[in-house]
Amino acid sequence: MTAKERLILALDYSNLDDAKVLVEKLGDTVDIYKVGLELFLTSGGKAVDYLHEKGKKVFLDLKFHDIPNTVEMASRFAVDKGVFMFNVHASGGRKMMENVSKMIENTGSKSIAIAVTILTSFSEDEIKEQFKSSMNLEEMVMHFATLTKESGMHGVVCSPLEAGLIKKLCGKEFKTICPGVRPAWSAKNDQQRIMTPKMAIENGADFLVVGRPVRAAEDPVKAAELVLKEIEEALEGDK
Ligand code: C5P
Repeated sequence: MTAKERLILALDYSNLDDAKVLVEKLGDTVDIYKVGLELFLTSGGKAVDYLHEKGKKVFLDLKFHDIPNTVEMASRFAVDKGVFMFNVHASGGRKMMENVSKMIENTGSKSIAIAVTILTSFSEDEIKEQFKSSMNLEEMVMHFATLTKESGMHGVVCSPLEAGLIKKLCGKEFKTICPGVRPAWSAKNDQQRIMTPKMAIENGADFLVVGRPVRAAEDPVKAAELVLKEIEEALEGDK
């Protein structure tokens, strides 16, 4: 995969017009865009159609979590829309994820179906309080990654710090999609557990989800190009 095939730009906007300005500005520099709950809902789903009309790939980040049949139907919507990637919560369970992966197999869809393990907003203490489990945060992330893999899904959203371990546990083909990426030149914002694009790729990240470092840059095209250059450097070093 090339650097461009690994960069996912997060379109965290509350209206489609603002998102369009960035997509137009970035032109051919970026190919994959992440549409989350906010933009999906405020645009009435139109953000997906707009991006597809522009020839872009869409990561539909709606994190489905419901009974198996309902999540299967929602996933079917994503697949029928032809999204490149979509996600569910691994905590929805084995049956829920198996329904999704079987539906993908039956439809012959090329969509990549991934799961969120533990939301990165959870602290170690909150995990203890919520799950009353003897597992610590990392053990729980690995547990959910394994469950995701066993349920036939294609990969997980994870911190770049966890990507290497997840690859070791679930295999090379199991996809790691990593937010929490910050080039050395950009602000950390509210991200805690970060890596640079180069380090993230070197640590086993397949896809990088980047938002503010590009979106909030004075020159988003240049910022995206710098991120792509870092990814390329990591890929070169891998040869
Ligand atoms: O602006 P920034 O680069 O921090 O954006 C990262 C994107 O990845 C945001 O859309 C954020 O919601 C998402 N994300 C994340 N951490 C997760 C899962 C998703 O930052 N664990």
